[in-house]
Amino acid sequence: MADTQLTQYFVAASMDGFIATENDDLSWLLQFEGVDEAQDANPYDAFISDVGALAMGATTYEWILAHDDGPWAYGDRPTWVFTHRQLPSVEGAVLRFTQDDVATVHGRMLAESSGRNVWVVGGGELAGQFLDAGLLDEIWLTVTPVTLGQGAPLLPRRHTTPMTLVSALPAPNGTFVHLRYRLR
Ligand SMILES: NC(=O)c1ccc[n+]([C@@H]2O[C@H](COP(=O)([O-])OP(=O)(O)OC[C@H]3O[C@@H](n4cnc5c(N)ncnc54)[C@H](OP(=O)(O)O)[C@@H]3O)[C@@H](O)[C@H]2O)c1
Repeated sequence: MADTQLTQYFVAASMDGFIATENDDLSWLLQFEGVDEAQDANPYDAFISDVGALAMGATTYEWILAHDDGPWAYGDRPTWVFTHRQLPSVEGAVLRFTQDDVATVHGRMLAESSGRNVWVVGGGELAGQFLDAGLLDEIWLTVTPVTLGQGAPLLPRRHTTPMTLVSALPAPNGTFVHLRYRLR
């Protein structure tokens, strides 16, 4: 269990700041082996072991439904899916579909995450809503060595208060850099 509950946006982006193409294609990212690895460490394993609840937008959830064949990847961690629509459930997942404001949902997430951290999975606009509400503590960013030109933005906000670099880990295969920044 973490000492303090943190709200973290853990995400991979192209070098020019997109997390998907305009058609929600992730093949530019999935072409790489070992996206989670860094020298002597696995940032994703370290990250997810401290996560107790997740938040994601409808497009991200629908991407998972369309592409992930295996069991729900996040175990029994409660997952809030922000949507205005009725979406199908996934067997084994603990899902809470919501259109409440992020501050209200965030309170529920902290209460239901067993003292562990909150993962804002994305997309960027939802992460922006958490930022707007002053609820985002950290951004964990995997920089991917490609550019997309356009697509779904990493964080469509102007945030000029400098963030503090906590760590920067290069991947052993000369591809990614894993950055961890603190916002507050
Ligand atoms: N590279 C990475 O690490 C990474 C990480 C996460 C996601 N992704 C990808 O990036 C893309 C993100 O898509 P996206 O930018 O469209 O974002 P998204 O956040 O996944 O989905 C946006 C949709 O969520 C719903 N929504 C958002 N905020 C809401 C609120 N406050 N209340 C109710 N509903 C709300 C709306 O859907 P409705 O109104 O239609 O219900 C909205 O159109 C996806 O392709 C995803 O797979 C990549």
